Amino acid sequence: MSRIVVAGSLNADLTIYCERLPSPGETVHGNDFAVNPGGKSANQAVAAARLGGQVTLLGAVGADPNGDMLVASTAGAGVDVSHVARVSRPTGVAVISVDTAGENSIIISAGANATLAPEHMDPALFAGASVVSLCLEVSLDTVQAAAQAGHDAGATVLLNLSPFAPVAQELARLTDVLLVNAHEGSQFLGGYDMPAADAPANAWHGALEEFVRHGLNKVLLTLGADGSVVLDATNSAAPVVRIAPTVVQAVDTTGAGDAFTGAVAARLAAGDSLVDAARYASVAAALAATKKGTQAAYPSSGEVAARL
Ligand code: RIB
Ligand code: NA
Repeated sequence: MSRIVVAGSLNADLTIYCERLPSPGETVHGNDFAVNPGGKSANQAVAAARLGGQVTLLGAVGADPNGDMLVASTAGAGVDVSHVARVSRPTGVAVISVDTAGENSIIISAGANATLAPEHMDPALFAGASVVSLCLEVSLDTVQAAAQAGHDAGATVLLNLSPFAPVAQELARLTDVLLVNAHEGSQFLGGYDMPAADAPANAWHGALEEFVRHGLNKVLLTLGADGSVVLDATNSAAPVVRIAPTVVQAVDTTGAGDAFTGAVAARLAAGDSLVDAARYASVAAALAATKKGTQAAYPSSGEVAARL
């Protein structure tokens, strides 16, 4: 199995489970409260490692108990954390509400994640990597430097466009596979009207053309309970492939997208085609939603195989 580099964020997730998410100006009673390891990049790294990936995580946490928790959690999953710096800013935090349908809303405070800079994306750290996995919880300059280093190393660069931000053309050009939900995909395309989540494969050709116009040949679109769709302009035989949902009882969907991204990274590094990797990742993400929390909820390869 070849190496995966994940560069980006680590957060302590402060989660309250509640009946329903509050509206602006409203206070609601919640149920349980939990502090768990999170952050989209740390989550991607743990998801990939648990599925057999050989993962190096590049990031930064504070010299505080939340930082200890995150290093323990990622290292405990087998991730190489020797390039997770301890800095003088507090560890990043996410304040999360999860309702009884498993839906969430999240606010993040970057803290130490804001110190991760382009100069930390040392090309030597990317040498020999076959996949580089990124998200947008650290500065866009840092993401672009990581994408460039991954590209120069000949790795497949995955970018999960979350939390959404408009990205420079240059970053789009360096991205081999874009991972988005329908909303992020629509925003990326400047407000493009996406097909309904349950639309058949042929309804997605227009969206694929738009992504190609924006510099992306390969896009994985997650559609929540409707599964996902693989858009691949380089696959002339099957440019659009719909992946059926894995039906589960969702308890907490927080980090399901990160599980999907980490699983794609692990399977591409293992040599899968994009469609096979997406099929596998759909199962991993669905299973991740059946338990509370993010990293602690991520499945092993055996658990995924049982549902493939
Ligand atoms: O995608 C889920 C993650 O988003 C959480 O773990 C939280 O830390 C935020 O980064
Ligand atoms: Na979960």
